[in-house]
Amino acid sequence: MTSVEPSQSARPAGGEELEDLELRLLLEGVFRRYGFDFREYAPASLRRRVWRRVHAERLGTISGLTEKLLHDEATMERLLLDLSVNVTAMFRDPTFYVAFRQKVVPVLRTHPFTRIWVAGCSTGEEVYSLAILLQEEGVYERARIYATDINESVLDRARGGVFPLEKMREYTQNYIRAGGTRAFSEYYVAAYDGAQFQRSLIENVVFAQHNLVSDRSFNEFHVIVCRNVMIYFEKKLQDHVHGLFYESLPTFGILALGHKESIRFSPFEDRYEELDNGEKLYRKVV
Ligand SMILES: C[S@@+](CC[C@H](N)C(=O)[O-])C[C@H]1O[C@@H](n2cnc3c(N)ncnc32)[C@H](O)[C@@H]1O
Repeated sequence: MTSVEPSQSARPAGGEELEDLELRLLLEGVFRRYGFDFREYAPASLRRRVWRRVHAERLGTISGLTEKLLHDEATMERLLLDLSVNVTAMFRDPTFYVAFRQKVVPVLRTHPFTRIWVAGCSTGEEVYSLAILLQEEGVYERARIYATDINESVLDRARGGVFPLEKMREYTQNYIRAGGTRAFSEYYVAAYDGAQFQRSLIENVVFAQHNLVSDRSFNEFHVIVCRNVMIYFEKKLQDHVHGLFYESLPTFGILALGHKESIRFSPFEDRYEELDNGEKLYRKVV
């Protein structure tokens, strides 16, 4: 695919500085008009995605997009889809699930009931993966998964539980590498070009919209899984979200981050111990 980020020559006449200003004004407009706060997201990826939307709307400038979306909610919805990177996969980074089985499940067994928050769950592949793992370990019945995302349309797809059939080969391999103990095909039926996953997998799942930037904590959780979400945030926003998670975990609660993320260098670094550093599993200790 070709990149749609403007080359230096396609940049507005005022160059980078003007582009920066236009981007800031757009983000401010989005926040004030629609309440979605992308002002502290990492700018490089944001800029690329905004330009993609500018071109898709057949506009010439970021300001043009600002004007359009302020007056047209449908444009905002399309931009929202562009801005929230929804890439995900079942049993993504399989070694994470191996560590989860070995180090988190034994802790879950000690609780009569477990609340798990999957923040930034996208289209749900991660949630179905966790549900499968918990079922296989015999702890799903006494667990409730709260799966949230900023984006209502990805949550709708998650609720549907239909994933592309052509992905099943890759997901089966991930599942096996993740320590899966059955035939992966037991969990879905093929329907046209989709794989419909068993409804029983989401029996104990609550899908809800939640914005990590502006919404508060809504419960206390034994485990919080937030993988590949904060990577798109600037440091200040990452710290804010770490505060939210810290507040939402009891002592000995577990935080799971993505492979490229870390609790290190956050103000909460000393409040956690490593449960598995390679797999970014941490336990709150104070
Ligand atoms: C790259 S996906 C990660 C999905 C899954 N956790 C995984 O690791 O495969 C990032 C998700 O974070 C969501 N997201 C981005 N900003 C958010 C925010 N402020 N609050 C909640 N979710 C957000 C996006 O909508 C997207 O679905």
